[in-house]
Amino acid sequence: MCGIVGYTGPRQGVPLVLDGLKRLEYRGYDSAGIAVVDGGHVEVFKAPGRISVLEKELGSRMPAGHTALAHTRWATHGAPNTVNAHPHTDCGGTIALVHNGIIENAQVLRTALSKRGHVFRSATDTEVLAHLVEDLHANGTPLVDAVAGALRQVEGTYGIAVVSSREPDTIVAARRGSPLLVAIGAGENFVASDASAVLAHTRSVVYLDDGEIAVVRPGDYRILDLHTVEKEKAVTQVDWDLGTIERGGFAHFMLKEIMEQPESVQNTLRGRLLEEEGTVRLGGLNISDEELLRIQRIVITACGTSWHAALIGEYMMEELARIPTEVEYASEFRYRNPIVDERTLVIGISQSGETADTLAALREAKRRGARTLGLVNVVGSTIAREVDGGIYLHAGPEIGVASTKAFTSQIAALALLTLKMGRLRALSILQGREVVRALGRLPALVQRVLARAPEVERIAERLIRATNVLYLGRGYNFPVALEGALKLKEISYIHAEGYPAAEMKHGPIALIDDLMPVVFVAPKDTVYQKVVSNIEEVKARGGKVIAIVTEGDTGLAKLADHQIEIPETLDLLTPVLSVLPLQLLAYYIAVRRGCNVDQPRNLAKSVTVE
Ligand code: G6P
Repeated sequence: MCGIVGYTGPRQGVPLVLDGLKRLEYRGYDSAGIAVVDGGHVEVFKAPGRISVLEKELGSRMPAGHTALAHTRWATHGAPNTVNAHPHTDCGGTIALVHNGIIENAQVLRTALSKRGHVFRSATDTEVLAHLVEDLHANGTPLVDAVAGALRQVEGTYGIAVVSSREPDTIVAARRGSPLLVAIGAGENFVASDASAVLAHTRSVVYLDDGEIAVVRPGDYRILDLHTVEKEKAVTQVDWDLGTIERGGFAHFMLKEIMEQPESVQNTLRGRLLEEEGTVRLGGLNISDEELLRIQRIVITACGTSWHAALIGEYMMEELARIPTEVEYASEFRYRNPIVDERTLVIGISQSGETADTLAALREAKRRGARTLGLVNVVGSTIAREVDGGIYLHAGPEIGVASTKAFTSQIAALALLTLKMGRLRALSILQGREVVRALGRLPALVQRVLARAPEVERIAERLIRATNVLYLGRGYNFPVALEGALKLKEISYIHAEGYPAAEMKHGPIALIDDLMPVVFVAPKDTVYQKVVSNIEEVKARGGKVIAIVTEGDTGLAKLADHQIEIPETLDLLTPVLSVLPLQLLAYYIAVRRGCNVDQPRNLAKSVTVE
């Protein structure tokens, strides 16, 4: 999704903001631009496509100015072309502005501004903001007052940064609904939508909250509310270092992140397992055991891959903790009239902690009196800050747009929460210990599956020309089938569908012929025999079967055209292992098809608009 980086200080601004922008490339975008205040003028350069196109556009004309903004855009209003790329400027060319989010009353404001003589160049909602600020910045009004005045007229969401040729050493930034932070250096300061853009320069950041404005200058910064009343804000130290967000010798971030899963799962579990007591220690829940006991119902809400993890969480919670649990797409939940009250626990799952729909769903749940928890990876993200409590995944930065290691950590975190809730209720200490021990063994088992990557690569070779692939699983492995299909379509653009294996008979079976590969997730769990029958049904129709099976299971060898083994574990934890070959399969197929694995077309790492 859109990225923002700004710099003001003694150094040349453009190379710094371009470098920061490249660190946000992974989030997905379709055009890029910069603005620099240089010699009393604001200069703007923009280009559709990759940042490298913008760099070419700049060529040797690198402007010398010390205050600069940069932006990557992911189109919402208007096509991804040069005119619609940010920064946007006002009529007089005094102001340049970059924006993430959506201005909902843009049309009304645009009409009013046009009537006052403003001339619009783009089809974006953002340009409205530039002209609004222009109006108010007249007659010597400071930029911050003009921006605050403009924002008071705006409906919708924004993370913005603005520069003006009249205040060459100032960036004014503001946030409502789209993440933004101020990063504090020595004699220089930054603004950014994501800490990874500035980590090369400083670890000290101030996260803006909704309704806050920052006035950033080389030697100082101030945080104000929309009425320009100054506020005190804490400085946070970001502990991710640059090394962990670089590729480290792997061809793609996605492969690096797949291969990191023994450590990332370990990091989710670290310090949390209490084997003797058969339970877990979760320091961040902020909800007492008494309150947790009063919970009668759980709703888990999320989007994308995190939603698939939520489905696994539902099965776990109902099986082990015996609490009625439902899973909701965040985008649906927020616009229904959901039934939640103070006895409902609403859990939001989000890698980024910034997904707009998940955030809005949690806010809605809170408004209706529910207790809220976040299972979030990015420390200090908006969801993490707004929920009552939560469990950090500690999976480390995930850069590949297609989520991999966050998914397995989400499952591990859900198992931890299930244990906590279960042990407060009917789950016995013996059952608790069994799950704790199985969790402890999990990272080594993940390693064992990943060692089979070369086998998966060979199988992938057979599938590169497929146009449709069906993924089937039952029980805990039904969500894994959904996730396997999502991975494939996201990065290889092959159409894929995940289905509960038995439901196949009610539709997808009509599609099966010798051109249709079917991936069965079929470990030896309680529904194994049932899945075997489903495999027979596919074979009887000439389908090509790839099966994920438990180590030593010879039963399927005759039926499956290819099989990949995973070690045995408890049923509820098999998804952590069974998804690994599917991640690898999608990865190798996409690479062989020449796709841009880390930045698939049209997708964004973190979807901060509705
Ligand atoms: C986007 C990403 C997915 C991710 C989803 C939810 O669609 O491309 O990989 O699963 O958002 O993101 P979240 O950060 O909330 O887990």
